[in-house]
Amino acid sequence: MKDREIIELLNKMTLEEKIGQMVQVAGDAFLQADINVTTGPLKNLELSEEMLYNVGSVLNVMGSKRVRKVQDEYLSKSRLKIPLLFMDDVINGYKIAFPIPIAQGCSWNVDVVRKIAQISAMESNIAGANVNFSPMVDLVRDARWGRVMESIEGEDPYLGQIYSKNIVQAYQGNNISQLGQIASCVKHIAAYGAVESGRDYNTVDMSEREFRQYYMPAYKAGIDANAEMLMTSFNIINGIPATINKWLIQDLVRKELGFKGVIISDYGAIEETIAHGASKDEKEAALNAINAGVDIDMMSRIYANYLKEICLENKEIENKVNESVLRILRLKNKLGLFENPYGNTDIEKEKKYIMNSDNLKEAKRLTQETFVLLKNENNILPLNKNRKICLIGPYMDNGAITGSWSMFSDRAKNNTILDIFRNRVKSENLSYAKGTEILRTEEINKILKADGTPTIHIDNEQEKEKQSIKEAKEIAKNSDIIVLTLGEHYKQSGEACSRSNINLPENQVELVNELYKLNKPIVVILFNGRPLSLNNIENKVDAILEVWFPGTTGAEAITEVIFGDVTPSGKLTMSFPQNAGQCPIYYNHYKTGRPHTHDFRYLSRYQDIPTQSLYPFGYGLSYCKFKYRNLQLNKKQIDKNTTIKVSVEIENASDYEGYEVVQLYIQDLYGSVVRPVKELKGFKKEYFKPHENKIIEFKIDIEMLKFWNEKLQYVAEKGEFKVYIGGDSVKTLEETFELV
Ligand code: GLC
Repeated sequence: MKDREIIELLNKMTLEEKIGQMVQVAGDAFLQADINVTTGPLKNLELSEEMLYNVGSVLNVMGSKRVRKVQDEYLSKSRLKIPLLFMDDVINGYKIAFPIPIAQGCSWNVDVVRKIAQISAMESNIAGANVNFSPMVDLVRDARWGRVMESIEGEDPYLGQIYSKNIVQAYQGNNISQLGQIASCVKHIAAYGAVESGRDYNTVDMSEREFRQYYMPAYKAGIDANAEMLMTSFNIINGIPATINKWLIQDLVRKELGFKGVIISDYGAIEETIAHGASKDEKEAALNAINAGVDIDMMSRIYANYLKEICLENKEIENKVNESVLRILRLKNKLGLFENPYGNTDIEKEKKYIMNSDNLKEAKRLTQETFVLLKNENNILPLNKNRKICLIGPYMDNGAITGSWSMFSDRAKNNTILDIFRNRVKSENLSYAKGTEILRTEEINKILKADGTPTIHIDNEQEKEKQSIKEAKEIAKNSDIIVLTLGEHYKQSGEACSRSNINLPENQVELVNELYKLNKPIVVILFNGRPLSLNNIENKVDAILEVWFPGTTGAEAITEVIFGDVTPSGKLTMSFPQNAGQCPIYYNHYKTGRPHTHDFRYLSRYQDIPTQSLYPFGYGLSYCKFKYRNLQLNKKQIDKNTTIKVSVEIENASDYEGYEVVQLYIQDLYGSVVRPVKELKGFKKEYFKPHENKIIEFKIDIEMLKFWNEKLQYVAEKGEFKVYIGGDSVKTLEETFELV
């Protein structure tokens, strides 16, 4: 439709119909018995039949047949035949589950992240998605927060900007009505990743300068990439819930960042402003939200039940409603839904395209780049398949390796490590035993109970656990090497999965301790959604391969890396803390007045643990051996118009081929505000043949030196800087230069 036709349509709408467009319900409202996925506190919204058939969108209804059925049911009773929008959480893939976002970010490869977004968009678009509630670009620093698993950027704003822009572009292409393109929804606006003590939905409080310096860049990059939607977050910003925060939505997002798209609240967040104590009652919650500028009320009855009354009391509010509805109608128009309310759903295409072998092959390749080799003593990896291997641990025959947001993917169909090892290793060289469960029933039942799902009971659990470890030891005795699959349960990370203790489960640590007594090399494959505290196993094992929740092709991808077909190349985007007591921890921290540079009591340190992380940002080993030397700057001074060329020589002193992520950090040695000890300002993922030498070059310009000052100006200040180059944020070569 032409825009003037959209405006004509708006003018035909009754106030009830307009308000309906601003309400989003779970799709099961139209499917009755066929309850779809819920991602928040599901409750009956008690919407009138009239309002229900006026709503503008539904969430998490997927599958061509189901989407068409809902659209037909809805349109059959819609006066103006304005089609529903289908919005979904395709967080790490639809039917093909890809690695969880934190893993994708560890690839440090924009092409990997783009390709995953493209395949996810195609699969979900054919299955009915018009909008994807992704990318989640919240900067994160606290591993106690379960949603770090969703953060594509981890603790770094530079990565955040690059990934945010590229995922939005990959989802949307040049025309969101095209097959395989979907509207993106950048979330969660804003700073949701900074919840105090890592407790979900908790308070966020920081200076605007800190927000602009670290948290805003990734949101801005998504907006600059023309993201169609934004989602407000559950937390407060400067004392006011983001969802009713006029400074955030009107002054920053709309005016300063120029966002013209649709703003949706998070699940029930408008109603929750009452619980926050920021809205007196439901009517005030509606007034606060419409005045702040939220266009769609996700899964609460606030707009549905109160906007009409407020509009009748204040004409100005109806103008705001008109603006919101116009944005929503324009989005539907861009998606082509007025011409074809079914979008690009296609039952035949769905059968042919979804989970197709080419994409599964590609998914395996992409997945391999997300693994991070944390330890590899005596080059125990890659494995020689002719040695006697004993595969042990709760993940050796468990396909639930796709993470908590992969609710549309069938976990039961995934290959397990055991399945794939069996194809790879002669039976006489392969033995296996579970050794222990992921969690003891006491732990898993806390999670199941909170979900309202049936709990588990095991008679003589302790006895059985001991027996299980004993059997595993017996089997392992006759092997040369132990491959130990450990980690979190997938329900321990994601939304509402905060944990005060980020150690491996006690029963798994006991298994490690017992196997350690056999004095055989142990290779750990780690499945988790957050950095874990590995102190209690790290010195008992010879290798640790961090695979996060690797998705549908995880078992195949892991096996090929373990046996050396592919060299691991991932690098951490989030520091691994020594333990939960060290959270939040991040590499781009300030120096403090007493940096812990030597052994002395009165410094910024702990009495009981080291100050530095267990594994730092940017860290990841390879089967290759990369040697950095000869860092050169072509000049020692720049001004606002000139640049410095930086070059470094890197040798792959090994027989393996593989990628290295060469990282460039800059430190502003002093400023009008304190400056971080270093900031990532560039990286290159370079391929090396065995024994290959390369010169890698970067350019430094004034843009890389800018920061938000006390007056909230984005400036660079003259003075001395350091440039660091290395394969992580700690082991680097360094040089100095000056901005004049
Ligand atoms: C959830 C999440 C958000 C998700 C939305 C819809 O509560 O906070 O990330 O997209 O609701 O499921």
